[in-house]
Parts: sequence; C-alpha cells; structure tokens
Amino acid sequence: MKDLEEMIDIERSSFGEESYRKELIVQLLSDEEFHNVIAELDDEKAGYATFFEDARRKRARLVTIAVKPDYRNRGLAKAMLAFLEEEMRKHELHIVSLEVGTSNVPATNLYLSLGYRITGTIPNYYGKGKDAIYMEKTVDRNDQKS
Ligand SMILES: CC(C)(COP(=O)(O)OP(=O)(O)OC[C@H]1O[C@@H](n2cnc3c(N)ncnc32)[C@H](O)[C@@H]1OP(=O)(O)O)[C@@H](O)C(=O)NCCC(=O)NCCS
Repeated sequence: MKDLEEMIDIERSSFGEESYRKELIVQLLSDEEFHNVIAELDDEKAGYATFFEDARRKRARLVTIAVKPDYRNRGLAKAMLAFLEEEMRKHELHIVSLEVGTSNVPATNLYLSLGYRITGTIPNYYGKGKDAIYMEKTVDRNDQKS
C-alpha cells in the first residue's frame, strides 16, 4: 500500500494531468508480468520505473519511468534502468523497447546514452500532432553494448 501511494505521488509530480490512473498503478504492482523498481534518496521515494515482460516473445517493454523534479540529474533514472535491465537478463528477455515523445529531450537523451537505438516513429501516438519515437535495445548478457 505504501509503494502504491509513493508511485502515485511520483507519477503526479512527473506527468501531472497525464498521470496513470490509480487502477493502472495497482495493476503494475500486482500483475506478475510487470517488474517495478523504486529509487530512494535521502529517505525519500524519488522515482520509479516499470517494464512489462512478454515471456512468449522474450521481450520487455518499458512502461514508465519517472523521477521527481527535485531529484533529477543525479543519475537515478540511469540506475533504475540498469537495475531493470539486469532483471530482464535474469528473465532471459533479449530486447527491450519503448516509446518516447519526440519533444521529450531528457528522456530521449537518457535512452540514447544507454545504447537504445531509434527504430521508428509513431505519428500521433500521444494524441493529435504528438508523435513518438520507437526505440529498442538488446539486453542479452553477451551483447550489452548494442
Ligand atoms: C527522463 C527522466 C526520467 C530522467 O531522470 P533523471 O534521474 O534526471 O536522469 P539521470 O540523472 O539518470 O540522467 C541520465 C541521462 O539522461 C539525460 N538527461 C537527463 N535529464 C536531461 C535534461 N534535462 N536534458 C537533456 N538530457 C537529460 C542525459 O543524457 C543524462 O546523462 P548525463 O547526466 O550523463 O548527461 C526525468 O527527467 C523525468 O522523470 N521526466 C518526466 C517523466 C518522463 O518524461 N519519463 C519518460 C517517459 S518516456
């Protein structure tokens, strides 16, 4: 229950009106296909990230990542993604994919800095005129750089 409240708080501080509904966050915490990490700094729950495990296709999809504004640019997002990638390898997932808004420079830079490749664009993904970039990364243990 505590994690739920913290995740809602992080969501609201990062996405405002576009935050996930409480029911969806409950699902992220309860369904076993979802893997979550919560980052803590100075006794404060400062960020969280989640991926979906597609076990049949051996793929992961990054569902969300957010760090509270006061805790940004301290490496928390990078650390959370490194942790989740290790989880993906433990579950023998080969590829992680994600979508990010074309105007979201911090997140796009984050993914590029970690070796994600842009593999496509999705017009109007976030609503009219709000396109997304589709990105992928290979997370196999013996191919961590690609
Ligand atoms: C994107 C987000 C999660 C990054 O969190 P963070 O903890 O500040 O990121 P880190 O400190 O780990 O930064 C890692 C890299 O991201 C990039 N980055 C982060 N903030 C940036 C900014 N404001 N401008 C440009 N690049 C940025 C840089 O490449 C950085 O690496 P560097 O420090 O070596 O240059 C955070 O800005 C956030 O919560 N944004 C709102 C929610 C969101 O857009 N989520 C992504 C949805 S797809």
